[in-house]
Amino acid sequence: MDVETAIRTRRTHKAFAPEALPREQIDELLELGSWAPNHNLTVPWRFRVIGPQTLERLKEIAGPEGAAKLDRAPTLVVVSCVLNGDPVEEEEDLHATAAASYIVLLATHARGFAGYWRTPGLLRGEEGRAAVGLPEGERFVGLLHLGYPRQEKPAPERPGADRTTTYLD
Ligand SMILES: Cc1cc2nc3c(=O)[nH]c(=O)nc-3n(C[C@H](O)[C@H](O)[C@H](O)COP(=O)(O)O)c2cc1C
Repeated sequence: MDVETAIRTRRTHKAFAPEALPREQIDELLELGSWAPNHNLTVPWRFRVIGPQTLERLKEIAGPEGAAKLDRAPTLVVVSCVLNGDPVEEEEDLHATAAASYIVLLATHARGFAGYWRTPGLLRGEEGRAAVGLPEGERFVGLLHLGYPRQEKPAPERPGADRTTTYLD
């Protein structure tokens, strides 16, 4: 799949087949994420792939409704950004981590898998952060749900360039 097709056809999937992605696929997708543009090559992103015990702990904290959402995704990856204390660098590092997350989602789609970038409150709270080992100096950026797609997803409406682009004098 060429890059433009991948960009246009990637969709957020919330329903997955039950099988987890093979570990080598997860490793390759996360390695691709590390090619994100990154000022000063600080490598600020961190990926934590959730295992069965961590999932159980998260589900306990999340409660029944949150647990059901976690159960829908066969592979879960917590993405966070290491904060170094400098406000400008932290902003740049957060942008780079978001770019890395998008690369993972785009590559996931290009390989025929499905993905979903979630930001559940669970991972902003103290208990949820502790359950996935997020230290104080890391900012939660996303919980990526990855797996095999269960259905085709149509594209939602997109804002046109008339609203988003200005050519300045
Ligand atoms: C930073 C970020 C956080 C998101 N968090 C959520 C979320 O918590 N819940 C959710 O349903 N979708 C979340 N999404 C997915 C968007 O809702 C989705 O990308 C949007 O509806 C456009 O659909 P598409 O990804 O299929 O193009 C998030 C996306 C981004 C970039």
